[in-house]
Amino acid sequence: MIIISELSKEYNNGNTKIFSNVNVTIKDREIVALLGENGSGKTTLLKCICGLVQANEGKIYIDGLEMNQSNFNTHMYSIGVVLEGIRNLYWRMKVQDNLQYFGALKGLGKTQIIQRVNELNKIHGLNITELSNRPVKELSIGQKQKVAIFIALLHRPKFLILDEPFNGIDKYTKYNLSNLLLNIRNNENVSILLTSHIDDKLINLADKEILLKSDNAIVIQKNQ
Ligand SMILES: Nc1ncnc2c1ncn2[C@@H]1O[C@H](COP(=O)(O)OP(=O)(O)O)[C@@H](O)[C@H]1O
Ligand SMILES: [Mg+2]
Repeated sequence: MIIISELSKEYNNGNTKIFSNVNVTIKDREIVALLGENGSGKTTLLKCICGLVQANEGKIYIDGLEMNQSNFNTHMYSIGVVLEGIRNLYWRMKVQDNLQYFGALKGLGKTQIIQRVNELNKIHGLNITELSNRPVKELSIGQKQKVAIFIALLHRPKFLILDEPFNGIDKYTKYNLSNLLLNIRNNENVSILLTSHIDDKLINLADKEILLKSDNAIVIQKNQ
C-alpha cells in the first residue's frame, strides 16, 4: 500500500505553490487515476512518490516504509515507472536490446531477463514477441507504450506508475491499453497509479479517481 499523507509541494522558494495537503491511499491491487488539468501537479506528485522530487511537507509511505533518501533503493525496487512515456526507450536499438539494457540496469542477468520476458509475454495483450527484432523507432506510439510498460515490469515491482499513458493514442488503442492494464493488475497483482487529463472518459478502468487541484485532492470513489 502507498500512503500519501498531507503532502505539499511548492517551487521557487514558496512562490509557486503546486499542491497542498494531498491525502491519497493506493491499496494493493487497486487501479488509481490521478486526474487534473495541465499544470495541476500530476507529474510532480508522481515524481515525489518515486523520490525524484522532494515534497516540502507531508510524508509518503510505501508498504509502511517512509520514503526518504536513505531507503531510496528499497522503494525503487518496489516501483515500476514510466514517467516520460515512449521517450524512455532507445529508439535506434531493437526492442530486445532495450529489454536487455534496462533489465541490466535493474540488476537482472541475461537469463533472468529472458525468463521474465517469456513470463510477461503470456499476459493477454502484452505479448511483444513479434516486435523484439525491430528497432523502437519503427513502432507505433501504442507499441512503444507497450514496450515501455513491459520494461517497467521487468523487476517485478508491486506498484506500476504511468504518467499520461493515454497521451497521443487513438480511441481503439486506448481501449486496448485499458484492458491490458486490467490484465496486468490481475496477473501481476500490482497496484497501478496513472495520470490523465480531466476529461479522459476511458479512465473508467480505475477503481478510484483523484482530482488534483491546487488547494487539495478530491477523492472520487468508484466501483464500491
Ligand atoms: N522543477 C520545476 N521547477 C519549477 N516549477 C516546476 C518544476 N516542475 C514543474 N513545475 C511547475 O509545476 C506545475 C505543475 O507541473 P506538472 O507536475 O508537470 O503538472 P501536470 O503533470 O499536472 O501537467 C507547473 O506549473 C510547472 O511549470
Ligand atoms: Mg504531467
